[in-house]
Amino acid sequence: MTIRPIRYLGDPVLRRPSKRVRRVDDSIRRLIADMTESMVAAQGVGIAAPQIGVGLRIVVIGMPDDEPFALINPEVIKRSGERRLDEGCLSVPGYRGNLTRSVSVVVKALDDQGREIRIKGEDDLLAQALEHEVDHVNGTLYVDRLDSRDDLVKIEAAEPDRAQPARETADVAGEGLD
Ligand code: NI
Repeated sequence: MTIRPIRYLGDPVLRRPSKRVRRVDDSIRRLIADMTESMVAAQGVGIAAPQIGVGLRIVVIGMPDDEPFALINPEVIKRSGERRLDEGCLSVPGYRGNLTRSVSVVVKALDDQGREIRIKGEDDLLAQALEHEVDHVNGTLYVDRLDSRDDLVKIEAAEPDRAQPARETADVAGEGLD
């Protein structure tokens, strides 16, 4: 397993819709292992393949206290309700946003053995993570879903090594809120 660098807002790979996985094989499982390791190292609760530079429709969800799991070719097949939430993203370090997400979210996907599975989140962090990560493989970031720039708040960087160059900070304001 390898920890791979996280790609940040402004990197085109985050904006390209990812390609479907045609066959779930060992190379895909190795990628999932790298994604999982990278997510844990960055202290995220989810990660999508484009965030480590790979344009494939794969996400890993890692809820606190639960075993991380992969969703391959994930699709939201049902969503209902609305709620306001605070949200952050490993690819937009130093910021939090307040946005509207669904209350209930059902995702259909393949697991890391290629079996079809369904995952449901209901008014919890899982529901939020499912929508957030499926957005990533479609080239969408949470900053796209903010009603206004006022809903984006700068926070102190958790660690010095995650501090952002000025250019990337400008991208948050310029790219995200059109
Ligand atoms: Ni994210």
